[in-house]
Amino acid sequence: MTIDVSFYSPKGGTGKTTLAMHFAMYLKSKDYTVEFVDLDPQASARKFIEPEMTYSNHVTRHPKSDFRVIDFPPSATLSHKPLGFTFLISEPSLLGVEGAIEIMKSHELKKYCVITNKYDKRRSDHVAIHKQVVDAAKSLNSSASHCIFVSNISNFSAVERSTNRRKTLFNLDDKSAKSIFNFKKAKDELSETFDFVLLGLKK
Ligand SMILES: Nc1ncnc2c1ncn2[C@@H]1O[C@H](COP(=O)(O)OP(=O)(O)OP(=O)(O)O)[C@@H](O)[C@H]1O
Ligand SMILES: [Mg+2]
Repeated sequence: MTIDVSFYSPKGGTGKTTLAMHFAMYLKSKDYTVEFVDLDPQASARKFIEPEMTYSNHVTRHPKSDFRVIDFPPSATLSHKPLGFTFLISEPSLLGVEGAIEIMKSHELKKYCVITNKYDKRRSDHVAIHKQVVDAAKSLNSSASHCIFVSNISNFSAVERSTNRRKTLFNLDDKSAKSIFNFKKAKDELSETFDFVLLGLKK
């Protein structure tokens, strides 16, 4: 059976497409078959993904792959409900965190994780904003809407640098990887988060 994984955020520019592409390539590196569904009319993932795996711009009726990774447009309305397990992507800004908490309060998401993306642990405002997400996840959890974990992903120039090469950290060639500052640190951090989610999805 195909497992659906949505990347969703009410706010634009939080990193949905970037993290969706990285998760899709991470799954591929683990030999899963993956279909990438791009619901963003800007189709920003297309040029990265299409040569690597099945790509479509609508939710296909009979998916054949192990996973279907769905990239949502910014400010998706409720007519665009996330499918399956959801990565709710927040960022360390007031708009980012307010948007994420609003979605958590709506109990629209059945099983999900919340990621504060572009996080800098040395900044006290980032730490305080992330704590709001952690507290909301704890207080809003219910049997109908269950947050399996809350985490953050650092602001890594390595993420930008690899996507500038139309690659993710999971399919960059070794030579390019060597030239990217903090490549391993960034890849390890993303892998750790994705490993955790994968474990939760298989349970
Ligand atoms: N962890 C990160 N570290 C550094 N830069 C990042 C990180 N995640 C995303 N970015 C950068 O942030 C920018 C916005 O990312 P992206 O396009 O994935 O956001 P989005 O949520 O899909 O935007 P939209 O709402 O327009 O679809 C891109 O330049 C991307 O490279
Ligand atoms: Mg996007």
